[in-house]
Amino acid sequence: MNRSIVEKAQKYFTTGVSLITSSGPHGQNVMAAEWTMQISYEPMLIAIFIHEGNATFKNIKQTREFGINVSSEEQTMAVNIAGGYSRKETDKLKINDAFDTIPSKKINAFMIAGCTINAECKLVTMKKLGDHTMIVGRAVAISYDESKKPLIYHTGRYFRLGPIIESFRKTINVDETAINWFSIESDGRFVLKCVGLIIKYNTKILVLKHTTKNHSYMTIPLVVPKRGMAYTKVLDSYLKKIGLRVTINKVPTLKRLIIKNKKKILRINFVLFEGRLKSGTKNYRWKPVLSNSLLHELTN
Ligand SMILES: Cc1cc2nc3c(=O)[nH]c(=O)nc-3n(C[C@H](O)[C@H](O)[C@H](O)COP(=O)(O)O)c2cc1C
Repeated sequence: MNRSIVEKAQKYFTTGVSLITSSGPHGQNVMAAEWTMQISYEPMLIAIFIHEGNATFKNIKQTREFGINVSSEEQTMAVNIAGGYSRKETDKLKINDAFDTIPSKKINAFMIAGCTINAECKLVTMKKLGDHTMIVGRAVAISYDESKKPLIYHTGRYFRLGPIIESFRKTINVDETAINWFSIESDGRFVLKCVGLIIKYNTKILVLKHTTKNHSYMTIPLVVPKRGMAYTKVLDSYLKKIGLRVTINKVPTLKRLIIKNKKKILRINFVLFEGRLKSGTKNYRWKPVLSNSLLHELTN
């Protein structure tokens, strides 16, 4: 690999920066670590990746505990000091006005005030990987401050978090029958995932009568797959069950929609396959695709 490309590419990873606190053979200390991430929910495990030459490494190895303080956008100076000097050179925590420390509940090292997250960790495992060592800690105490915004690190510079990018969904108005039917299918899920089949004939589309708990609705052949099931298999077995014989184009389209009726809304992700009818059930109908309808949105 071309070394200069590798070096530039490495800077394109985007991270936050944590202030790692420790107290050990090198005394109380703080260092900056961009390579910090949560790696398990339960137990809550957080990994940091530290160079063996750092004073922090020796402190953690000996005491088997450390603090993770995720820095906020007001803390660039603290990060520069924590990351720019070693405890072997100077006691960073004593530098005038650089760090505002707070006592910990469950570990000996101090925590840093003004951060977005403070996690007190007990060492679970260490493993040398390449030129750094992965240090995994279990959070034994944790707090967060919603009023603080995280500092972002990219291309060796500090950034603020930008505005939210909405994950796009088109809103379609539907009638009461449709929203009721999909509500029952969704069974309280935040997003209902469906796999459906589009069979077109001129300006019409094949629909079937679907019945769920006293609600019936004419719509494309569709099924709600169980989590983790392959969509093509779910669709194939559904079509077999209803006796609809089709040739399916295996390249699907994804439609992320919000269906709406008065104040009721439902988020639905449709994975749609196109098919051609061979022969089949007597129970289907062809419905004209009207503009601005759900069928129109699914077929376009
Ligand atoms: C923004 C920033 C991020 C850093 N991230 C890491 C990191 O993830 N792992 C690491 O070993 N060093 C990292 N460093 C370098 C250490 O913070 C630096 O070597 C520090 O002097 C070590 O302090 P210590 O010897 O007192 O432990 C980073 C430095 C900066 C400025």
